[in-house]
Amino acid sequence: RIAGPSGLVIFGVTGDLSRKKLMPAVYDLANRGLLPPGFSLVGFARRDWADQDFAQVVHDAVREHARTEFREEVWQQLAEGMRFIPGDFDDDTAFKQLRSAVDELDASRGTSGNYAFYLSVPPKFFPKVVRQLKKHGLADAPEGSWRRAVIEKPFGHDLASARELNAIVHDVFEPDQVFRIDHYLGKETVQNILALRFANQMYEPIWNRSYVDHVQITMAEDIGIGGRAGYYDGIGAARDVIQNHLLQLMALTAMEEPIAFDAEALLTEKLKVLRSVKLPEELGGHTVFGQYAAGWQGGEKVAGYLQEEGIDPQSKTDTYAAVKLEVDNRRWAGVPFYLRTGKRLGRRVTEIAVVFQRAPHSPFDTTATEELGQNAIVIRVQPDEGMTVRFGSKVPGTSMEIRDVSMDFAYGESFTESSPEAYERLILDVLLGDANLFPRTEEVEESWKILDPIEEYWDKHGKPAQYPAGSWGPREADEMLARDGRSWRRP
Ligand code: BG6
Repeated sequence: RIAGPSGLVIFGVTGDLSRKKLMPAVYDLANRGLLPPGFSLVGFARRDWADQDFAQVVHDAVREHARTEFREEVWQQLAEGMRFIPGDFDDDTAFKQLRSAVDELDASRGTSGNYAFYLSVPPKFFPKVVRQLKKHGLADAPEGSWRRAVIEKPFGHDLASARELNAIVHDVFEPDQVFRIDHYLGKETVQNILALRFANQMYEPIWNRSYVDHVQITMAEDIGIGGRAGYYDGIGAARDVIQNHLLQLMALTAMEEPIAFDAEALLTEKLKVLRSVKLPEELGGHTVFGQYAAGWQGGEKVAGYLQEEGIDPQSKTDTYAAVKLEVDNRRWAGVPFYLRTGKRLGRRVTEIAVVFQRAPHSPFDTTATEELGQNAIVIRVQPDEGMTVRFGSKVPGTSMEIRDVSMDFAYGESFTESSPEAYERLILDVLLGDANLFPRTEEVEESWKILDPIEEYWDKHGKPAQYPAGSWGPREADEMLARDGRSWRRP
């Protein structure tokens, strides 16, 4: 899978995402030989830069963040195709310049009119950029070539705003021209959920309400809000992470087998899951939103959320969110899916734990099986990529004592191949026109339908529960599971 003749235009090229993820990903793809020789990268931003200044910025980003080793000849070839357009998004002259740059690159680098426009900009600018692309004839592909738009989240902040945004984008681009980034879908371990489930025979028979007690999906981060106050305050953990990453993980875990591995079939199955989601009747007892207070992390004292720079000291924004959902269909009816995410938690870890019911009967002395938990299959999304199966085993010795043990699969031990960074995979897919790993409009809107009532409830009821930085979240979250006779796993 090597991209054909093409170029990438990045709007918001001076941002963090661009420097830390997009620029290094482009270089790594080039270095792995997955980009065409004439690949071109165009930056667009409000800076007084010449092409060389832009190339220097990319160079520094690559040296700092690229995964693969630096090779001068790869770099040179890439750098020759770099152009920079200074201007803001209202500036017609800048967009005219962009159009000329595209034509010039078609002629000098053979990009053949194939361009992806990456909107790495705050959502309030989406409409402007998209309309300018249309106005300047950049959205329409010349005969025999393609034009695509790549959009970063957040896709709105609720259903209404997401619909508005979608209408604007689809006024200019056809649905199959639009690639929405949910970088979790670019992760190797997330793609492996479907391989695990549908390339094997042994898990599927037990992957349902007859055997599964509940599912826990955790995305914990140790970092705080550092420098991202402008984006985060008012958005919060549920909109930032549950609406997209965690609901996608849930959909992949719960969905039926797609009739083929293509975008359409995947969408069909994921949508069925999202549409079957049932919220708890009593949101108060089955959802929790929290905010980190000062605490200790990695041996250092860290500030609480309200003391972070740029945060409104009265802010009610959630830095922790936990929700209980049900997928109300034949396979899953009655099986809770507990989703939780938070900043400044004990450590950085994302995992999906499918927890099984207890054996219906035990012939062993139950006092000796006290340490026996429930069987579980844990998909370790990151950082320690792999999978664990937890089950009970006899403790060596003269009595029949049972204890939990683990069976592990680790990427590092089983594969010599290295995982591409999520953004590498996704950028390559955009250039190839492969939409499998990109959520569609319908999924985005369904996800907001799930989240909106929860956000509304939180808005009306009280204040976020406090938890000390470095802990595993507010006490209320433990109580939420205890109410169901369950507890959170300590990853
Ligand atoms: C982003 C969120 O989508 O994912 C961030 O906006 C979060 O708040 C990040 O930190 C985490 O990504 P990863 O790949 O490090 O788990």
